[in-house]
Amino acid sequence: MNLREIFESMEYGPAAEDDGPARAWLARHGGRFGHFIAGRFTEPGAAFASRNPATGEVLAELTQASEADVEAAVAAARAAQGRWARASGHERARHLYALARMVQKNARLFAVLETLDNGKPIRESRDIDVPLVARHFYYHAGMAQLAEAEFGGLEPVGVCGQIIPWNFPLLMLAWKVAPALAAGCTVVLKPAEYTSLSALLFAELAAEVGLPMGVLNIVTGDGAVGEMIVAHPDIDKIAFTGSTEVGRKIRQATAGSGKALTLELGGKSPYIVFDDADLDSAVEGLVDAIWFNQGQVCCAGSRLIVQEGVAERFHDKLRRRMGELRLGNPLDKCIDIGAIVDPVQLQRIERMVAGSAGEVFQPEISLPEGGCFFRPTLITGLEPADPLMQEEIFGPVLVSTTFRTPAEAVELANNSRYGLAASIWSENVNLALDVAPKLAAGVVWVNATNLFDAAAGFGGVRESGFGREGGWEGMHAYLKPARRARALAPLRPVPAPESPKPEEGIDRTPKLYIGGRQLRPDGGYSREVWSPRGRLLSMVPVANRKDVRNAVEAAAAAAGWARATGHLRAQIIYYIAENLAERTGEFAARIAAMTGASRAKAEAEVARAVERLFTWAAWADKHDGGVRGVPLRGVALAMNEPVGVIGAFCPDEAPLLGLVSVMAPAIAMGNRVVLVASEAYPLSAADLYQVLDTSDLPGGVVNILMGSHAELAPHLAGHLGVDAVWSFSSSDISGVIEREAAGNLKRTWVNHGRARDWMGPEGEGREFLRAATEVKTVWVPYGE
Ligand code: NAI
Repeated sequence: MNLREIFESMEYGPAAEDDGPARAWLARHGGRFGHFIAGRFTEPGAAFASRNPATGEVLAELTQASEADVEAAVAAARAAQGRWARASGHERARHLYALARMVQKNARLFAVLETLDNGKPIRESRDIDVPLVARHFYYHAGMAQLAEAEFGGLEPVGVCGQIIPWNFPLLMLAWKVAPALAAGCTVVLKPAEYTSLSALLFAELAAEVGLPMGVLNIVTGDGAVGEMIVAHPDIDKIAFTGSTEVGRKIRQATAGSGKALTLELGGKSPYIVFDDADLDSAVEGLVDAIWFNQGQVCCAGSRLIVQEGVAERFHDKLRRRMGELRLGNPLDKCIDIGAIVDPVQLQRIERMVAGSAGEVFQPEISLPEGGCFFRPTLITGLEPADPLMQEEIFGPVLVSTTFRTPAEAVELANNSRYGLAASIWSENVNLALDVAPKLAAGVVWVNATNLFDAAAGFGGVRESGFGREGGWEGMHAYLKPARRARALAPLRPVPAPESPKPEEGIDRTPKLYIGGRQLRPDGGYSREVWSPRGRLLSMVPVANRKDVRNAVEAAAAAAGWARATGHLRAQIIYYIAENLAERTGEFAARIAAMTGASRAKAEAEVARAVERLFTWAAWADKHDGGVRGVPLRGVALAMNEPVGVIGAFCPDEAPLLGLVSVMAPAIAMGNRVVLVASEAYPLSAADLYQVLDTSDLPGGVVNILMGSHAELAPHLAGHLGVDAVWSFSSSDISGVIEREAAGNLKRTWVNHGRARDWMGPEGEGREFLRAATEVKTVWVPYGE
């Protein structure tokens, strides 16, 4: 097109960004790359091609890592970790600051390389990805600076294996690397096989600005290399972003290994438009929600839920706007939609759309020759259960449905196995803020979409994974309590003696406690509880899988507890404490009889249990959440929400205090619990539910089972109605819990056979608060 023609048509002329410097960098390496280990590139080895998806051209040859390469990278990270962790926070802060400056100085080079490799429009890599990368390193330079003052009692997790996807290659690196380095961890990172170049450039430049060797290592290759990292015994934590399918595999592979794990997985995020929304703004928002990065965004607003009265008008506006989107050479500064990352992904999108039962709309936009392009697509008329309404398409494809009432909007929005993000559009702030807490999502945007910042936690609930990236909560994913816990010896029930002592009056046979009622176990079995002195103390019921199911259903039905005020929860927990204190003598006698402890020691346990209830009553109305100052028009609220239904195996060694220490923080934060009492000493649990019964606790908030931890662990951890499982059992059940939890990706908090001093400060504290809550980040317009 010549200048005259441009003036006549007012069409945009091509305005391609100069890719010379990026190509010069590739050429400087001869177009071939090894891994980046211990501060330098290794010799290139068995190669695979990295292509430009907009043209199909090979950009570089990358090396598929071998076991030996992964070994070398982990060894380098391990060797560097001690010194990096011992460096002062200020020293690490200076390095992170240097990385932020380095990104800014090379911003255009990074942006162009990213666009060449990934196919995303240069407008996005230049104006969104790279500035956010720099922001992340600045923010975390600050976290490193404050480390000693603000993260007392914590230490770095250690060597981290980080596996990232191809949709935001450099940004995902930043999200993973910046908090890890700030915390004092070292890293072995594997970029996605389609998009490794910006990570290699980053590592090279990081070394140039003085990052100590071994602190950041990059190995390239496909999923097999990811598997090697996941399996490596000298890695302390895995952080993964990618598909739910691979996330589940990683959960299974790390089960029982003691490795920490955070997963940021897929989504099918709802985009809710109420009839009083500013429809033009909502259309523009939608362009951002689903056509940003060709829809290859884990939190893409891919499910439009629009109120019936405005649906037709909204769809018409949307179709018109879709016709104006510009699709083409991603390096062109005027382009809205670039290339899909790889032919494999393109075919997947084509296949899914071709199989659609709905009405498919695509604007008449011509596609460039040769590359991986797909037109923006709107599909209407689908049933809520349609696979396209439920499954992640991960492309520029929007599906749409309608609703009549706000309640129906919430129901449709939550009708998903995912729970990553949601957008709400309404000019009525009351309505928007009424709906936000009802959505099962880790992030909610009010009259906005796809806003991200280093200060605001990001991550999901349900099968969208667990753990948060960004903000204070994101730092905790790279820290752990600084204590050396001793091994926990298995504590078995006292066996029946050969010559039992005569019974001292027959005791009642306690039952299970489900839904606020005392129920016989489904199987009708019970077992004897003997004192160490050879006296039969009581029978206890033995719960089975059906009892687990009944208890979980009772807990689910008590959902109103999550909405009770902190003040009310506090009052009830104080009341439990008061009623327990009244019966100190009785509880102490029971503990002494069961465990053989002295009377004084048993009384101390009861007294500490009362005190601990006070602690959690105190916290019930004080775990406030926060307001994050984000550099945008608005604020991000960090709301601490209960996790949901928590299944917990109580400590064996402290029959009353252990149970109280697990129950109280969970219910104080609004969760419902299914507790499995100490297997060795179950009677204190049976005594306690009588206290609960007289303390105004609604039925179903606390359910108590008794039985074999090993037998109940797979049932509780595998139950789809359970959102998190904790274990402080002395039985070896951590592995089976983590494995079974993979089904619906529950959060787990297990002891891996390590003891905890329940009488001391380890028996309470913020660790419990963090496990009992999940941060929901709600972005709201605020100020000018
Ligand atoms: P993926 O989950 O297979 O890949 C993500 C990363 O995991 C890559 O670095 C890959 O090499 C690595 N990986 C693959 N298998 C592994 C294993 N068994 N163990 C350890 N690491 C492994 O995603 P993929 O295949 O590239 O995309 C498939 C679908 O996944 C997409 O269509 C999309 O639906 C979803 N996805 C979601 C993302 C998100 O941000 N939530 C990002 C990328 C993909």
